[in-house]
Amino acid sequence: MPPPLHWTWRLFSEVETGRNSEIRKRRVRVVRDEEAGEDMAQSRPKRIESYIHKIEQIPTLPMVSKQIMDLMNDEDVSVKKMAGLIEKDQAMAVKILKIANSSFYGTLTKVSTIDHALVVLGLAEVKAILLAFSIHSFFYSNNNGYERSRFWKHAIVCSQVARYLARHFGLGMDETLFLSGLIHDMGKVVFDHYFHEEFVRVVEHVNQHNGTFSAAEKEVMGITHYQVAAKLLQQWRFPEKVVTQVFYHHAPWYDKNHAAGSIIVYLANLLTKLAGYPCLLTEEAAGGKDFHLSPKIYDFIAKQGLEIDERTIEHMLVQIREFIALERENVLSFFDS
Ligand SMILES: [Fe+2]
Ligand SMILES: [Fe+2]
Repeated sequence: MPPPLHWTWRLFSEVETGRNSEIRKRRVRVVRDEEAGEDMAQSRPKRIESYIHKIEQIPTLPMVSKQIMDLMNDEDVSVKKMAGLIEKDQAMAVKILKIANSSFYGTLTKVSTIDHALVVLGLAEVKAILLAFSIHSFFYSNNNGYERSRFWKHAIVCSQVARYLARHFGLGMDETLFLSGLIHDMGKVVFDHYFHEEFVRVVEHVNQHNGTFSAAEKEVMGITHYQVAAKLLQQWRFPEKVVTQVFYHHAPWYDKNHAAGSIIVYLANLLTKLAGYPCLLTEEAAGGKDFHLSPKIYDFIAKQGLEIDERTIEHMLVQIREFIALERENVLSFFDS
């Protein structure tokens, strides 16, 4: 059962009252603005409310996705049923075969039928790919062209890294991680599509202040891509685990329910950036550089039973870069039209 509709409101307020220092700083700033006679505390929530109102008007995904969602919740869905759905769309069938033959899956024989591809990829992954593809098409209709190709490359690499990490941590059976990795940043596409001017201002803010994307979003819009994505995914009745993993992909330590999954999506996002596939050009600076997680974060990860250290991360990065080098022309162009 998807969580009730008011649920993301709790998420919104949780972050607003959270321990996040950026938000604390902003709150202090709001108080100062009030002292200066500007009623920022009034205008800001109203503005956020108008964004949320607009998000609530976003229609549901087209029919084909609804069929996939139904199949997703159907435990007994057969390979035959899925293959039938995919074969209706030849372009999609070709893309699925391309992925199944990629070095990410390491098959020794060539995969040439959809039935075989479904066995190699697994039903959950194929469903995730189909869903992401319909999200891609949904937002493509009014494409402002803002680094969309880069965005979707980041998404597909992140999904592969999430799967890789899930296996590393023995959570390979968790079918939500690949999907969460794939759509974790979709809030940015929502911004680009529905609030393009503000989105451009956010990107400029990142450039000028050299800060994080989330901090710029809070400053410029008062709302972040992960909040918006969680809200929309919930509206679209995505599984609760996917909604929370997407919501907490920048701060899994706030996740009280599915922290292990949120950590994997968080690490997958970091590793994807470090492997040279950031979501936006402005984040390019992070690519290829060393990174250090604080001991507190390592502690938190260990407490969830997921042991990892800097050396392991470096080793993983080498492997991820190798996979990507092999797939640059193949899987990475999955979403290119
Ligand atoms: Fe993000
Ligand atoms: Fe990301």
